[in-house]
Amino acid sequence: MHILVTGACGFLGRRLIEALLARGQLAGTSGEATPVSQIVATDIFPEPAGLPADERVFYQAGDICDPEFVARLFAAKPGSVFHLAALVSGGAEQDFDAGMKANLTGTIHLLEAARQTGVSPRFVFTSSIATYGGRSAGGGIRRTPGNAGKLLWRSEGNWRAPCERLYP
Ligand SMILES: NC(=O)c1ccc[n+]([C@@H]2O[C@H](COP(=O)([O-])OP(=O)(O)OC[C@H]3O[C@@H](n4cnc5c(N)ncnc54)[C@H](O)[C@@H]3O)[C@@H](O)[C@H]2O)c1
Repeated sequence: MHILVTGACGFLGRRLIEALLARGQLAGTSGEATPVSQIVATDIFPEPAGLPADERVFYQAGDICDPEFVARLFAAKPGSVFHLAALVSGGAEQDFDAGMKANLTGTIHLLEAARQTGVSPRFVFTSSIATYGGRSAGGGIRRTPGNAGKLLWRSEGNWRAPCERLYP
């Protein structure tokens, strides 16, 4: 099983890779447990900060906003993709363009590259609580069909909510 992890050097990415290596197997597209043979770990940092040294892990530095780079990540036709790369919280709010590119355009590049492989990998997208609106976490405001549009005022949520409806 070839696995692709974006956002590999982030808080969750590093822990996910450690967990996958320790587990040693993962359900493939057939649902059967398959040994983890290779993890392509990618992030924007030039060096693989904090990733475990393991012969199954291959680090590729790059920007998911670059569609050619993303297409190359799928050369090994991964059976599972964990898409964790994102510009989260304050980063997305401070820079509208960067948030849109990383959180929306980057995700579309990944989904399109997955589709082009023709193998329909399992695609895990962590998304964000920001899709429920800026005040829902602390203010007790729940998203309902009536107020969903009003609550999606945070830039991060605006870019990530539509990604939940996309698929490879
Ligand atoms: N940490 C949590 O508790 C939590 C909870 C819910 C959802 N999530 C989601 O899980 C994902 C990972 O969260 P995290 O806490 O590890 O975030 P993080 O910020 O630590 O990691 C995100 C990684 O994405 C990388 N990245 C950003 N833009 C990129 C780009 N253009 N190209 C390539 N890489 C890029 C960053 O360099 C970073 O290493 C995010 O989508 C986040 O919204 C996290």
